[in-house]
Amino acid sequence: MKINIFGMAIICLLITACGGSDSGGGTAPTLPAPTPEPSDPENPPVAYNAVDSLKAHAEFPIGMEVSAADQERSIFTLTSQQSVLTYHFNELVAGLIMKMSYLHPQQDTFYFDDADALVDYALANNMRMHGHTTIWYWDSQIPEWIKSFEGDWNSMMHNHVYQIVNHFAGRVNSWDVVNEAVDYNWQTAQAGYRNDLFYQNMGASFIENAYVSAREGDPQAELYYNDFHLSYNNGKLDFIIAMLNDFIDRDIPIDGLGFQMHITMESPSREQMDAAFQKAAATGLKIKISELDIAINQRGPDYTGGVWYPEQVLTIALARQQKQRYKDVVASYLENVPPDQRGGITVWGLVDEETWMRAVANSDWEWPLLFNDDYTVKPAFYGFLEALTGQ
Ligand code: G3I
Repeated sequence: MKINIFGMAIICLLITACGGSDSGGGTAPTLPAPTPEPSDPENPPVAYNAVDSLKAHAEFPIGMEVSAADQERSIFTLTSQQSVLTYHFNELVAGLIMKMSYLHPQQDTFYFDDADALVDYALANNMRMHGHTTIWYWDSQIPEWIKSFEGDWNSMMHNHVYQIVNHFAGRVNSWDVVNEAVDYNWQTAQAGYRNDLFYQNMGASFIENAYVSAREGDPQAELYYNDFHLSYNNGKLDFIIAMLNDFIDRDIPIDGLGFQMHITMESPSREQMDAAFQKAAATGLKIKISELDIAINQRGPDYTGGVWYPEQVLTIALARQQKQRYKDVVASYLENVPPDQRGGITVWGLVDEETWMRAVANSDWEWPLLFNDDYTVKPAFYGFLEALTGQ
């Protein structure tokens, strides 16, 4: 269990276990180790291949986010992941190694070796490959040379997107060309373009230019716009839909919209998901659930890494609640997105141990995914499968 002092302070504020102790200062108290519950007899944690394959029950891609290259949980070093991937999934996306700073570390240098190895692996195993992502504002993923670039931004960004998409032409089926370019101000309830480095240098034109460049790079690849909070934030969703409808009207290439869906046990409601998928599908674009996970230890509208509840054990009751949430997401997608517009559903991580949420919260108390660390299935898995099979 890796809880730092900051995490411990929050825990002490939130749970009674610290009551009467010296939480006002000094050494952080040691929490008693929680007693794990026995497994749920109604949703037995059997091996990943003792249940039906997810992909066998879907006519759209079932995707998985993976680590690759020399990352800690790379599928090439932790090879036990590979049989789980090929059994259940038919699309892969890299969590890290196909972002800007990896593929384009210097202005005149692209680095494709690690991504090529992952794409080759996907193709050799009859999986599709989804590229993520040619433009993202996230500071650590923007190469330093772009941060200090002083030349012609239009041609520089065209070259960046074109070269990357063109390198993988015919091998990467779809791309998150631009990721998270729209912002929402909760105080003013206004959505607008994110005031990021690209917007500051090019205005909103950087977005449409990227789609034109990507289409030039690979005329066959499906081009997605990807963002978060879309399943409950109407203001943000409406702004993005207006942007994409404008692209369609002006023949700017765009094929799909990705709903990230890093969601919680409370939000969005089933009704909110239904309404959001219906609204998005009305554009005629493909709709993809691009980064699905469902946090246990987070309350409120969406995962932020901020306020969290210290559930120390994934109890049977919580796991069943999470199962119902997964079932609702998949069922809502099936009910509201017409078959020919289903771009697929991708889960953001294989086993709970590797979720990005644990790194953000600096805590092992999070279980947002479908599989236990030993590749047995969680109740959440059964929820996903039951929705796919119409149960
Ligand atoms: O693997 C190294 C490890 O060797 C090293 O010791 C450690 C020290 O910092 O870093 C590890 O790499 C981290 C990597 O995650 C591990 O997978 C990187 O620092 C960290 O920046 C990286 O975070 C990724 C994050 O995007 C930023 O790129 C997460 O894995 C990834 O899940 C997350 O994904 C984003 C999507 O791209 C966009 N939507 C939100 C989603 C979740 O934040």
